[in-house]
Amino acid sequence: MTTLPGDHPLHATTGDSRLIRAYRGERPEVTPVWFMRQAGRSLPEYRELRTGHDMLDSCLDPALSSEITLQPVRRHGVDAAIFFSDIMVPLLLAGVDVRIEPGVGPVIGSPIATPEDVDRLVATDPAMLDDALEPVREGVRRTVAGLAGIGDGTTPLIGFAGAPFTLAAYLVAGRPSKDHLAARTMLRSHPVAWARLTDWCADVTGRFVRAQVDAGASAAQLFDSWAGSLPLDAYVQHVAPASSRALDHVRDLTASDGRRLPLIHFGVGAMELYGAMQLGVDAMGVDWRTPLDVAHARMGSDVTVQGNLDPALLGAPWETIATAADEVLRQGASARAHVFNLGHGVPPETDPTVLTRIVEHVHAA
Ligand code: CP3
Repeated sequence: MTTLPGDHPLHATTGDSRLIRAYRGERPEVTPVWFMRQAGRSLPEYRELRTGHDMLDSCLDPALSSEITLQPVRRHGVDAAIFFSDIMVPLLLAGVDVRIEPGVGPVIGSPIATPEDVDRLVATDPAMLDDALEPVREGVRRTVAGLAGIGDGTTPLIGFAGAPFTLAAYLVAGRPSKDHLAARTMLRSHPVAWARLTDWCADVTGRFVRAQVDAGASAAQLFDSWAGSLPLDAYVQHVAPASSRALDHVRDLTASDGRRLPLIHFGVGAMELYGAMQLGVDAMGVDWRTPLDVAHARMGSDVTVQGNLDPALLGAPWETIATAADEVLRQGASARAHVFNLGHGVPPETDPTVLTRIVEHVHAA
């Protein structure tokens, strides 16, 4: 670790890694690959460690969070670690009554239903998170130290956060929903309260990802998993400003080579939004529905694409998976650079040996 201009510490050896080079627009000799939700229930070693530990408690236990983050790097030889945590962690630390129900997802004790509820929520100053985030920083420090001992020691850690819309979608609906109608209704009916809510979410989630970067993460990804439920005009007017504000917490940080920390933005079903979602990031995550070359045509040329093998293929015969992976690589060639990934998270029932084989296949292509 070195301390850099602006007091931004960065794991010094990762700037030459394939992943960081690809995010910055180079085409390394081998396409880098990692998987969203690579840490998790597909791994027996994860299920063993998590036994008896609540999900959100595990995220705040530095020994557990770092070990779980390292598991898929050791097993699969992926080109990145992604910090084991959850988008809901900063809300929990800000005092929101939230738990993660296994097989369901985030559940909120008292959903935000009215502008008065918003007023009560935003009365909590996001700055109070800076102390509460210490277990996250410690988990990241331990992870970065652990990564130095795996492979050639240059695997970067990606920090992440949920985007304000996705967080607000859970806060308002109170639990996972298909169409996020409750949040979209608040956005249309109470635009002023909505703006206060999403600005607050931006500062809470922005502090969460900043803590990971300060402790040693080499890139940062914003997950707007549910942005695809919005039409373009609503996204531009009522969501993009808050997402940009969240990214501002980690924007223009200087890395050890004097260049900018890479930022990635991901949305599900966000085909219509790709142009508007760029918000100055270095790479755009694409879900499984849109071929990478089609998605890329909707973006500026100065962006790397990340994705997008359909997670539903992971149970198919190997030849089917290999053919689909080759097609993803072919489509990814249209962009300035490509980071191979799935189009969404690893399903829990995935055979992990298939993931290892995909890594080998992409590296050999
Ligand atoms: O490996 C990684 O990708 C890093 C860890 C990570 C988790 N959640 C761990 C987790 C990341 C990046 C997330 C982000 C997250 N969490 C998102 C955005 C990404 C996406 O998938 O769209 C969202 C929407 C959430 C909210 C959330 N948390 C859901 C929908 C669930 C699944 C609920 C279930 O049981 O199916 C969670 C829980 C969660 N987060 C698990 C993991 C490994 C499963 C918990 C368990 O093992 O019981």
